[in-house]
Amino acid sequence: MASSPPLPEVQPASRGAHAAPRFAHQSEAEFARLLDFYGVRWEYEPRSFPLRYQDGALIEAFTPDFYLPDYDTYIELTTLRQSLITYKNRKLRLMRQLYPDVSVKLINKRDYLKLLEKFGIDPRGRAPVPKIDRILFTEREIDLRVDELGRQISRDYTGRELVLVGVLRGVTPFMADLMRRISVPLRLDYLALSPYQGDDSQLHFTKSLEEDITGADVLVVEDIVDTGMSLHRLLQYLRRRDPATIEVCTLLDKRARRLADIAVRYVGFEIGDEFVVGYGLDYRQQYRNLPFIATLAGE
Ligand code: IMP
Ligand code: MG
Repeated sequence: MASSPPLPEVQPASRGAHAAPRFAHQSEAEFARLLDFYGVRWEYEPRSFPLRYQDGALIEAFTPDFYLPDYDTYIELTTLRQSLITYKNRKLRLMRQLYPDVSVKLINKRDYLKLLEKFGIDPRGRAPVPKIDRILFTEREIDLRVDELGRQISRDYTGRELVLVGVLRGVTPFMADLMRRISVPLRLDYLALSPYQGDDSQLHFTKSLEEDITGADVLVVEDIVDTGMSLHRLLQYLRRRDPATIEVCTLLDKRARRLADIAVRYVGFEIGDEFVVGYGLDYRQQYRNLPFIATLAGE
């Protein structure tokens, strides 16, 4: 399936309206490529925020690396030396005090390496697959929560035309369990996204939608929402098909790592910044078949 060509009806996602800027660091260029891949619009260092004045003269300002206009969010990448990080953190604290209404997200070196690893740009190369560390949610806990979600969705969608759209592949166990807890009539479909390939590649759908969702109430079902970038691209694709409504249901929500701040209506469990596997979720295709959700050793 992964080898199917891009589907013709998928238009390229919009890129930032800019000529390629001169990036200060290679990591920024790479990050911009990731955003482009997901069709998340960005601007590079569009604005400086004054931080400190002395004798009426500006002596310190903060210029975040990126701005995401769709989410009114600034992003600062600090893949720098530790000595500079302390200085940057202080700046960021000041920034948050002075501009409490401006959303600034910090991506430190560890976050950044994890982000790259997630996209298959693996800084650790072919390191062995880590062992399971501890169980985060047992089979029973998942079962009870999925039950609640099913009941809530059934209530909310009574009398409407529900189409569940699952995102392959991690969603399969969750979808199978959730749909059987939903009591209203529904249609089922799936989407699959192409993996990041670097350079000028853009995300496309290796499995497109087969159902007509015009005027329908669409519920996107995800295993996990992390940065929110794949969801951004997915919603863009679905909205073009004129559904009456689109909402999102995810089993797991890593809110702390969100870059594209998308409203998620139904959340099974909120989790911290840890990599998890099981119940469909994988680490390099391993552990999907675990009936529980667990963290990995050394992650
Ligand atoms: P996002 O675009 O950053 O929100 O990425 C979401 C995708 O990243 C999910 O569909 C998963 O494939 C993957 N992912 C993110 N965090 C985890 C995790 O902890 N375990 C397994 N896969 C993850
Ligand atoms: Mg997924």
